[in-house]
Amino acid sequence: MSFPQNFLWGGALAANQCEGAYQEDGKGLSQQDVMPRGVQGPVTAGPTPDNLKLIGTDFYHRYEQDIALLAEMGFRVFRFSIAWSRIYPTGLETTPNEAGLQFYDKVIDTCLRYGIQPLITLSHYEMPLELCRVYDGFRSRKTIDCFVRYAQTVLRRYHDRVRYWLTFNEINVTLISPLLGAGVMTPKRELTAQDRYQAAHHQLVASALVTRFAHELDPELRIGCMAASAPRYPMTCAPDDVMTAMLSQQELDYFITVHCIGEYPYYAQRLWRENGVSLEITPEDREALRHTVDFISFSYYSSKVVAADESRYAMANGNIMRGLKNPYVPVSDYNYPIDPEGLRYILNYLYDRFHKPLFVAENGIGARETLIRLPDGTLTVDDQARIDFHREHIRAMERALEDGVDVFGYTSWGPIDCVSAASAEMTKRYGFVYVDRNQDGSGTLERYRKKSFYWYKKVIVTNGADL
Ligand code: BG6
Repeated sequence: MSFPQNFLWGGALAANQCEGAYQEDGKGLSQQDVMPRGVQGPVTAGPTPDNLKLIGTDFYHRYEQDIALLAEMGFRVFRFSIAWSRIYPTGLETTPNEAGLQFYDKVIDTCLRYGIQPLITLSHYEMPLELCRVYDGFRSRKTIDCFVRYAQTVLRRYHDRVRYWLTFNEINVTLISPLLGAGVMTPKRELTAQDRYQAAHHQLVASALVTRFAHELDPELRIGCMAASAPRYPMTCAPDDVMTAMLSQQELDYFITVHCIGEYPYYAQRLWRENGVSLEITPEDREALRHTVDFISFSYYSSKVVAADESRYAMANGNIMRGLKNPYVPVSDYNYPIDPEGLRYILNYLYDRFHKPLFVAENGIGARETLIRLPDGTLTVDDQARIDFHREHIRAMERALEDGVDVFGYTSWGPIDCVSAASAEMTKRYGFVYVDRNQDGSGTLERYRKKSFYWYKKVIVTNGADL
């Protein structure tokens, strides 16, 4: 089976991981500017020079060159996020920062000039730092209004040029890392489950309010949710392992259900009871949640193995969603499990359950890489492992299409190397394009096409026929 003619091939980036220019043209600080080690280190009092995100890969100044590279690969879609603090520097202003809006005008127009559809994430792991400090991020209900104001501003400004929008990146990560997902500054160890679930509830309400606004503003707009979606596998067929996998899967489905069905799933009561949670849900909240999304987007990096008694097994390596070691799958440079079949599995699972079109918003492999010089003098990277990774995942997606799943796009993670999210390092690269920037901050920031650049270009040109 071949991919549909209008299948959206592309890649995805996040503002805080590539833009840099952390205080240019009126931008305010975000929590990312005080997280120099990502989620793996402390929050600093202010920006520190060791924070690689402050300069990122300088997309803010090099967006034209970067988008030209994406166009050269034949991209049909480019997923990127807007830095909320460029538009509302503290999140509390009532009028937006025009210079911030103009920057995204230019990014969008450049994409359109090349025939690339922009797909915008409204919040990709960042919000104005002031809101984190004053309201503890989405722990406070007040942050909902600030987010809605920001989203309305950018939807009004760009809706005639941008059809696809996502509200919160990997919204389910709020329960695991409330600082990353919801801007909650209080250290996680001091938070109760009540705090985390309530913050997630506020985000779900904010997401639904924005979805309602977007649909009223322009019926052409397509709004999606976005979840980190490692499908859960039981370690064994022992009934308690299988049940553990089902319950763990429900933690992911919880978010997608609210977005797609418009209310909490039946098992939410059990989940809340077991976690000592008594959610404050107003009648207005319930009404807002009824406004459901048009499609489901998700990131897929690998499956996650769970067991009733996890102490009996070794842990796998991984970012934010680590499971147990899966003896049946190979691992990457970083020892992360590689499981293409899991992509076919989750596509079928989500489509069967929610009956909404699906979009693979992230997929990729992080690797340590160095530039090599070819005999003709060209500098490049031989990233065959990346080609193999994407090829197998695209094949799995094709099998899901054959299964009958409606999947309409695929954006690889970090098509141009960027600073990683979990550990804020430059060493872990996902790109088809190498950026000359080192862990110590040195480097020219020049871009170099890797071997995978030419491979992905061929994949897109043949609409997935030549893998
Ligand atoms: C996803 C995030 O979870 O994983 C991205 O949405 C992130 O922001 C990607 O970069 C890869 O993770 P990392 O930590 O290796 O950059």
